[in-house]
Amino acid sequence: MNLQSYLNSSLFLQNWQLLLFTFLVIFIISFLIHKKHNNTRTTKLDGQEYIGVNFTKNNSDTEYSEYVPALEEKEHVPYNGAVITLPGKAEQFYKMMNNRRSVRIFSQTKVPIEVIEDCIRAAGTSPSGAHTEPWTFCVVGCAKLKQSIREIIEKEEELNYEQRMHRQWITDLKPLRTNHIKKYLTDAPYLILVFKQMYSFLPDGRKKQHYYNEISVSIATGILLSALQAAGLNSLVTTPLNCGPALRNLLKRPSYEKLLVLLPVGYAAKECVVPDLKRKPLNKIMVTY
Ligand SMILES: Cc1cc2nc3c(=O)[nH]c(=O)nc-3n(C[C@H](O)[C@H](O)[C@H](O)COP(=O)(O)O)c2cc1C
Repeated sequence: MNLQSYLNSSLFLQNWQLLLFTFLVIFIISFLIHKKHNNTRTTKLDGQEYIGVNFTKNNSDTEYSEYVPALEEKEHVPYNGAVITLPGKAEQFYKMMNNRRSVRIFSQTKVPIEVIEDCIRAAGTSPSGAHTEPWTFCVVGCAKLKQSIREIIEKEEELNYEQRMHRQWITDLKPLRTNHIKKYLTDAPYLILVFKQMYSFLPDGRKKQHYYNEISVSIATGILLSALQAAGLNSLVTTPLNCGPALRNLLKRPSYEKLLVLLPVGYAAKECVVPDLKRKPLNKIMVTY
């Protein structure tokens, strides 16, 4: 067989257009899959999860031009520094905060919702990574919903105490006299469930990354605790183990929100007692250089 007849009989060469087309289609599909994977890949850095971020690759100027900032360009305006301050300032603030205690025995005395709103407004002034404001404060005053929350938490807490928590953990909690019964969840007039948003969506549908969302929401929660204290209200930071998804579903929050803490909020009951804890003195928590 000479070369010409060999070439004529080769199936490969007879169908070269079809083959070229198939290769091109495969190439385009794999390119698109790779691009999508890069955009949705979760990278862990510094204990935080980032979606669609490739930290190992140096972004060149041309690559930057593809991106649109999540935060729109803003004019920079003059700022006079902190001018609205409390009388007595830092010392007064310290005394007020030193009076804060975790309350687990609440009275059912009602709290005006406007006070709660102001406290949450204050929390919303918190700094946040790239000004993403990654928080949702769910305020539950409805008795039926509080009962459902209590049922979810008590069921899980019973398992936590009996099976999930290490003996050392249970032992460490003994001085606080906590157990799986959480009467404060139905006694306190409000429960504030603080959710951290891992990401959100821009109006054009693009995913907006929430950098350092846990740190940001924790700072906001600290401000919330301070505001509640300033309003003469009591609260308790709780972290109900293994209840996050059930509570998120109950409150119909989206899957990209995760429960950070739950705070019962109200007035301490007359019979309220707290463990006589001491706080570390300044020289044990501050180091001057
Ligand atoms: C991150 C965090 C999680 C906590 N989780 C719970 C909890 O699940 N249940 C509870 O009764 N107290 C909880 N607490 C409250 C602590 O036990 C309390 O803050 C500590 O004993 C100090 O008491 P104090 O708040 O009165 O100063 C938590 C506090 C923090 C900061």
